[in-house]
Amino acid sequence: MARPVGSAPVPRHYLMCRPTHFAVEYAINPWMDPDAGVDRARAIRQWERLRDLYLSLGHRVSEITPVEGLPDMVFAANGGLVVDGRVYGARFASAERTPEGPAYLDWFRKAGYTEAREPKHVNEGEGDFVTMDDVILAATGFRTEAAAHQEAERFLGRPVVTLQLTDPRFYHLDTALFALSGEQVAYYPGAFSAGSRRVLRALYPDALLATEEDASVLGLNAVCDGHDVVIAAEATDLAGRLRALGYTVHPVELDELRRAGGGAKCCTLVLRDADV
Ligand code: ARG
Repeated sequence: MARPVGSAPVPRHYLMCRPTHFAVEYAINPWMDPDAGVDRARAIRQWERLRDLYLSLGHRVSEITPVEGLPDMVFAANGGLVVDGRVYGARFASAERTPEGPAYLDWFRKAGYTEAREPKHVNEGEGDFVTMDDVILAATGFRTEAAAHQEAERFLGRPVVTLQLTDPRFYHLDTALFALSGEQVAYYPGAFSAGSRRVLRALYPDALLATEEDASVLGLNAVCDGHDVVIAAEATDLAGRLRALGYTVHPVELDELRRAGGGAKCCTLVLRDADV
């Protein structure tokens, strides 16, 4: 059931990974420039502010221990997909991130998730899957294979809608689209193929459409609990339109993590436990 904007948000449980070993040492998306360098201490400060914001909004945050040598592990959204307490594990497209799959699966098993599936097909977790009330939206094109959409559908028991990403800057679904509720989304149409734009228009005729400017600062990599929206500080047009719709907007500065191609949502895996 859709809850009206402005009603009390439902507390959520998030999994995050401190950027203790954050770096840009390789380039697997157009945002990453290994020669540009990063300020790790600054990345940690920005990440801690994000975590503290979630806590202040009433959410619960669990943390996975960061592993040395895995500089992208901070992007917890890629660590799996949890729906009704069932965990569909990640299998990364790049060799550099491959060890993160088992590391996250191990965390889930130790945390008591008994239904945790090691995937056969390449998929980068919630980076490419957005869980709605009736369906799961899933992307392919750069990372996650379409075969993983079917694998997830069978394992999780929810219909999956395949969408095609076409712009390399928006290589994960969560860089181009986020859920405002279980029934509504915001997205940047330019990131999708013409066919997928038609599918999105048919499913969400009243969706909030973002500008290229806001998409280009990873403004779509936002986290909305139905009331509060945590969004890149630079995405000002989208923030204004969210406020006009009645959402409480929390701009966050995450530009240091954006050097790796990630924003607020990338740092956040939603633990949709059976009772959530
Ligand atoms: N450097 C990481 C990669 O290219 C960034 C991942 C961002 N995560 C996300 N959920 N979009 O894989």
